[in-house]
Amino acid sequence: MMALLKAGKNRNSFRDRLQFHPMNPSIRPVPRTKTQARESYNKMSRWYDAISGNTEKKYRDLGLNLLAAQPGERILEIGFGTGHALVTLAQAVGPQGHVTGIDLSDGMADITRQRLAQANLSERVTLLRGDAATHPFEPDTFDAAFMSFTLELFDTPEIPHVLGACLRLLRPGGRLGVVTLVKGTPPGWPVRLYEWFHDRLPTMVDCRPIFGRAALQEAGFKLEKVDTEMMWGLPVEILLGRK
Ligand SMILES: C[S@@+](CC[C@H](N)C(=O)[O-])C[C@H]1O[C@@H](n2cnc3c(N)ncnc32)[C@H](O)[C@@H]1O
Repeated sequence: MMALLKAGKNRNSFRDRLQFHPMNPSIRPVPRTKTQARESYNKMSRWYDAISGNTEKKYRDLGLNLLAAQPGERILEIGFGTGHALVTLAQAVGPQGHVTGIDLSDGMADITRQRLAQANLSERVTLLRGDAATHPFEPDTFDAAFMSFTLELFDTPEIPHVLGACLRLLRPGGRLGVVTLVKGTPPGWPVRLYEWFHDRLPTMVDCRPIFGRAALQEAGFKLEKVDTEMMWGLPVEILLGRK
C-alpha cells in the first residue's frame, strides 16, 4: 500500500515537473523579431504609461518591495520601460549605490532619461540600449537584478540564457526579483483567451504567460519568495530568487 502511494506521489511530481518545465511546448513562441519588438516599443513609448502604466504599477511595486534594494547596492534592471522602477531603485541605493538599466527601445530610454533628470537621479543610473539576451555583462558585478513584465517577452529558448546571464552577473548571494505573467496549471480561461490574442497579434500582445518559478529554479536560483496575484484574471508571479 505504502509503495503504491509512493509510486502515485512520484508520478504526480513527475507530471508536475513536466507541466512546470520552462521549455514546455505549451508556452507560446515569440514569433516577432527583436527589430519588430524595438520598433513596437519605440512607437508605444509615449503612450506606455497611459496604456499599461497604472495596471502594472501595483505588481511592479510588489516586486520592488520583495527585492528590497539597500543603500550602497549595485542593481541591474532589464527592460526598464519608462523608468519608474529605476527611480525607486536609485532612491533606495542612495548616493553610494548605482543602478544600471538595459532596454531594447530608444523611445523608452528617452522617456526614462527625462524622468531620471526630473528626479535629479541621472548621476546614479547608467542606461544601456540593447538586447539583454546578448549583452556581455561582467560576472559578479551586481548585488541584485530586477525584471518586471519583461522575462515573458523573451522567446522560450532564450529564457534560460537570460536567467543564466543573471546568475553570472550577480555576486554570490545576490538577488533576482521577477514579476511575470504565468500560465497556472491548468491555465484558466483568461490565460487561454489572452494566448488566443497573442497567437494572432504577436507584436501587439507580446507578453505571454510562462512558468516563472520553474524557470528560475532550472536556471539555478534558490527561490526565497513566491507571491501570486491576479491581474484581469491572469496570474502574475512575484518572485525572489537568490544565487
Ligand atoms: C512590457 S514592458 C515593461 C516595462 C517595465 N519593466 C514596467 O514594468 O513597466 C517591457 C520592456 O522590455 C523591453 N525589452 C523587450 N525586449 C527586450 C530585450 N530583449 N532586451 C532588453 N529590453 C527588452 C521593452 O523595450 C520594454 O521597455
